[in-house]
Amino acid sequence: MEKSRMAELPPELRYIQYEHALEKKYLPAIRALISKDLSEPYSIYVYRYFLYQWGELCFMALDPKTDTMIGVVVCKLEPHQSHSPPTLRGYIAMLAVSSSYRNHGIATTLVRKAIDAMVERDADEVVLETEETNIPAMKLYERLGFLRSKKLHRYYLNGNSAFRLVLHLKRAQDMVGDENGGEDGLE
Ligand SMILES: CC(C)(COP(=O)(O)OP(=O)(O)OC[C@H]1O[C@@H](n2cnc3c(N)ncnc32)[C@H](O)[C@@H]1OP(=O)(O)O)[C@@H](O)C(=O)NCCC(=O)NCCS
Repeated sequence: MEKSRMAELPPELRYIQYEHALEKKYLPAIRALISKDLSEPYSIYVYRYFLYQWGELCFMALDPKTDTMIGVVVCKLEPHQSHSPPTLRGYIAMLAVSSSYRNHGIATTLVRKAIDAMVERDADEVVLETEETNIPAMKLYERLGFLRSKKLHRYYLNGNSAFRLVLHLKRAQDMVGDENGGEDGLE
């Protein structure tokens, strides 16, 4: 019974990196996919803020048969001045996989691609926030090596709290500084 609700994973699932030339083709699908699971929908400007500046850190999963978008991750990467010396901090802003395609490793692949792209650009760390009640997301990130760095009480408009998670990409002794400074996120 459970299986009938789950889509068969297309054998040649396609993963592509976002680029500006693809905005018209893919931005509406990115918004639709992410909005489905959000308690607080983002305006088009939020998507453009990330995609104009860090489009190469956005990866999409497509079903090649229908060209349907079934997963996406959106990120940014910039210096984090609160650390001394400043670190280059990646931030995973949005991640979603279409509900019938979940538990096939699609989000894991998308996040790994985003992390690899940040490593190529010399990132020191990657951070994100996720609702403390979002067990699938917490499991996914902790499986990939993210650690809980901070609890953010009543972080979301719906009153729910979040965890800030961090993945250190460089040796621990290089990472001097506090975990408190600077908010990256989407409030
Ligand atoms: C969180 C979310 C992105 C996870 O997506 P997903 O594609 O199901 O994630 P994955 O398939 O990579 O990982 C889920 C599980 O499937 C397992 N899995 C991985 N590869 C697999 C494969 N090839 N076949 C079967 N299962 C697999 C993973 O081990 C993982 O198990 P876990 O529960 O022990 O961690 C998805 O649930 C979602 O879109 N939720 C709504 C939006 C959201 O919460 N986003 C995160 C905000 S921070």
